[in-house]
Amino acid sequence: MADKGGLEGVVVARSRLCSIDGINGVLIYSGYDVGDLAEHSSYEEVCFLTLRGRLPTRAEMDEFTAELTSHRDLSEETESVVDMLATHAAPMEMLRTAVSSDSFDDPDKDSNADDANVRKAMRLIAKMPTMVARYHRRRTGLDPIAPDPSLGHAANFLHMLNGEPVSDAAAKTFDVALILHADHEMNASTFTARVIASTLSDMHSAITGAIGALKGPLHGGANEQVMKLLQSIPEGTSVEDEIHARLERKERIMGFGHRVYKTWDPRAVILKRFSKQLADESGDPRWYDMSESIEQTVVSEKGLYPNVDFYSASTYHYLGIDTGLFTPIFAMSRVVGWAAHVIEQHADNRLIRPSSEYVGPAVRDYEPIERREAPAVV
Ligand code: SDX
Repeated sequence: MADKGGLEGVVVARSRLCSIDGINGVLIYSGYDVGDLAEHSSYEEVCFLTLRGRLPTRAEMDEFTAELTSHRDLSEETESVVDMLATHAAPMEMLRTAVSSDSFDDPDKDSNADDANVRKAMRLIAKMPTMVARYHRRRTGLDPIAPDPSLGHAANFLHMLNGEPVSDAAAKTFDVALILHADHEMNASTFTARVIASTLSDMHSAITGAIGALKGPLHGGANEQVMKLLQSIPEGTSVEDEIHARLERKERIMGFGHRVYKTWDPRAVILKRFSKQLADESGDPRWYDMSESIEQTVVSEKGLYPNVDFYSASTYHYLGIDTGLFTPIFAMSRVVGWAAHVIEQHADNRLIRPSSEYVGPAVRDYEPIERREAPAVV
């Protein structure tokens, strides 16, 4: 078994999709640096790149975008599932359930063929934002807002969520956040999706499992915990002292550390810039300033750097997004990465079935229940 467990350092697949240089803090999607994609691309274009392995021509981009836009509406069944769950299910419980229920009437549900998988991926990429926005509107006693086909993917989500005009700056910021979360090599939720796909189970089952994995606070659930940390520190309190005390108590500071990055997560570098920009525009720099103080304390005291979840928290908060939606937003971006890995697994599959080291009792005889005695309480 690997020294530390958790499959650290174990190569479980060959993939063309994504590569991370953890020492130098570099992330590439199919050969393109994520910083270049954040500056020049769009989430829709990154979806084409991730699913097709190359950047589209203008005509291909127009066709792909039109296809995505055409799938934003939910079926009546999925709408009723979201509405039912809005009053008593947590956001990631809703998303896990709504995605699963969305398979019932998917025309390609019985096929794992490449073209069927791509069509299912397109429908999930298009529908998950509608699920999240509908859920939030219902949960806050508001009527859902229909998707607007004239808006891009990022702007349309903010429109469905808040019902207000979306500024170009907000749309661009959110679009970049979606790009940054789209894929990330063999992270826990992606590995989950590949294990499920390796049994020749279907796309919706794999994405549902991945959502369950992402929900955990050691993974995608960290961004929500970061915002709760920021809000838990009373104004006027020394942030440095608070974080120092937590570290002294061996508590984990959410949003820091990473299995692969041993320096800054390149996504955190970009999100920090957006958080600062939004803080300056908002006139309420508190959340950014606190984040920077926490960063400086954890880096200096623990030698741990921010990961993608740390500055995404304040960025989303400044965009007016409810904290409970932070991880669902992570999922509605990462769905393209999960789907691409499922397609890759189905295209060249062998059942993923590792072994384990047995450390249980040696072989022993079966004793009739009458002769058994409870072990002595120590
Ligand atoms: C994501 O894998 C991916 O690619 C994930 C992701 C993606 O895009 O898919 O990048 C998204 O999940 C980012 C990570 C979000 N999670 C968090 O921010 C939760 C807090 N971080 C940690 O729990 C931790 O850093 C992990 C889970 C991210 C990585 O953990 P590892 O590699 O298993 O490291 P570890 O738990 O063995 O910790 C090593 C040491 C320990 O100290 P010692 O016991 O050896 O003294 O570092 C310490 C840990 O206590 N440590 C922390 C810490 N993270 C690690 N101490 C304080 N605060 C932290 N955040």
